[in-house]
Amino acid sequence: MTTLDRRAQLAQHFPLPEDIPAEHRLSAPLHQRHSLIQGQLVEWNGPCKTVLSPVCTRDLATGEAKQVEIGSYPVMGEAESDAALDAAVAAYANGRGAWPTMAVAERIGCMQEFVRQMAQQRELIVKLIMWEIGKSLADSRKEFDRTVEYIQATIESLKELDNGSSRFVIAEGTIGQIRRTPLGVVLCMGPYNYPLNETFATLIPALLMGNTVVFKPPQYGTLLFHPLLEAFRTAFPPGVINTIYAPGAVVVPRLLASGKVNVLALIGSSKVADHLKKQHPKSHRLRAILGLDAKNAAIVLPDADIELAVKECLLGALSFNGQRCTALKMLIVHRSIVERFVQRFTEELGKLKVGMPWEAGVSITPLPGLHRTAYMTEALEDAKAKGANIVNEGGGDFCQTLYSPAVVYPVREGMKLYREEQFGPLVPIMPFDDIEAALDYVITSDHGQQVSIFGTDPAQIGALVDPLVNQVCRVNINCQCQRGPDVFPFAGRKDSAEGTLSVADALRAFSIRSMVAAKQTEPSKKLLNAIVQDHQSQFINTGFIL
Ligand code: G3H
Repeated sequence: MTTLDRRAQLAQHFPLPEDIPAEHRLSAPLHQRHSLIQGQLVEWNGPCKTVLSPVCTRDLATGEAKQVEIGSYPVMGEAESDAALDAAVAAYANGRGAWPTMAVAERIGCMQEFVRQMAQQRELIVKLIMWEIGKSLADSRKEFDRTVEYIQATIESLKELDNGSSRFVIAEGTIGQIRRTPLGVVLCMGPYNYPLNETFATLIPALLMGNTVVFKPPQYGTLLFHPLLEAFRTAFPPGVINTIYAPGAVVVPRLLASGKVNVLALIGSSKVADHLKKQHPKSHRLRAILGLDAKNAAIVLPDADIELAVKECLLGALSFNGQRCTALKMLIVHRSIVERFVQRFTEELGKLKVGMPWEAGVSITPLPGLHRTAYMTEALEDAKAKGANIVNEGGGDFCQTLYSPAVVYPVREGMKLYREEQFGPLVPIMPFDDIEAALDYVITSDHGQQVSIFGTDPAQIGALVDPLVNQVCRVNINCQCQRGPDVFPFAGRKDSAEGTLSVADALRAFSIRSMVAAKQTEPSKKLLNAIVQDHQSQFINTGFIL
């Protein structure tokens, strides 16, 4: 089959408009015209950005495939972002606002009300995830449900945290009560690949700990938050959460330069994070919780179970078209088995179903825009020019946003694919002879999130784990890299992260311990007891949240 034939075949995956199953269509384009500021849904009459879905439809007459327009959202500017920030600052009120001083149990009550309303929007939000970023229906549902479970687990974890602080501690003649308190205003920005889940992995704990928030949705994955604006508005006091729809480059450096943002929660690139942190006039006052670049490698040892390694590497490299921060982005395979590995890998890859996100069992779906297929092509051309081959038939072919995964072998230093985070359906493979070469790849990388190792020899696995745990934050044995379960710490070294996120860790990340202390004297004891008995303070109390 020629490249042209294959492209024509790819084009056939895009439906005619009338062929989209009715139950998966958006009932109408969503033209969002409101932002949430100071508890009000403020109408926007200025310029708007058209949202194009990764999904294309074909024109029957011309055969041309075009990205579907699914709506639009405001393109705001500095004035609106200043207003959102001012609202968050006012709601925090130097720690005296209704939200930061509210009893933890009441804050939990607000969050439970939010989740109740969120659950009612499941169907629409799932559909919007699917149409806005091209994630399969099954994975879009998973993303929604995992996020609800994450919120519930975070609430339980907060109860545990707070109950553990509901007592006095006595040391060296001092009575103390120690609790975690909010940090202030949090600027929260999530990524397009997990727009709901990863955004909420910071936004929810930030809110629960009593901070107020300015939230800027990702560029792809904005409309899906629209059905939640009313829930945000009614579940929380005014100003606790404020949204801004504006180009990041225009408003985000300005937000930080104001000096009024206390926490930067960003899932994005290390380059952007570095730039933003420098904008804050007093950088020591800014806490950063960052999920950044990654280039996780899989090291496949000579005695690895090849079938298992192929299965896990395929999932690791190509789930959601490789658009996961935790994706396996470099496969390092021992030379003695590399031929067999590549053969089995490409055979299994050939079985992956390419199609539209709503199709049952689909694996490969359209990418968010033509700039992404252009980048994949550029990286591929660069590797080919420097001596690598595409080893699977049709790898790298594309039609508009639909891109056939390419297995590239042998990849070596000097090629883009050797170090750059491809964040897409390209699978670079390089052989190694000496395990030192594989270790060296990880050590000399700018990234330090996770690694996978495949093998069966306890001595060799054990000896590899010890240096690797000091290079990355999770070593996966005979399985792909991944973030979950969400109770496990999710962290990274070097350019991959700052701070640790897990259900429990995130609550710590968005708070600081503060304490009251008094001498262990009779008058102090009396005073503290009276405060507790008469409920004179939210902080000094020994109540239990059940
Ligand atoms: O994009 C990065 C996500 O945190 C990855 O999460 O490993 O559960 O797909 P995951």
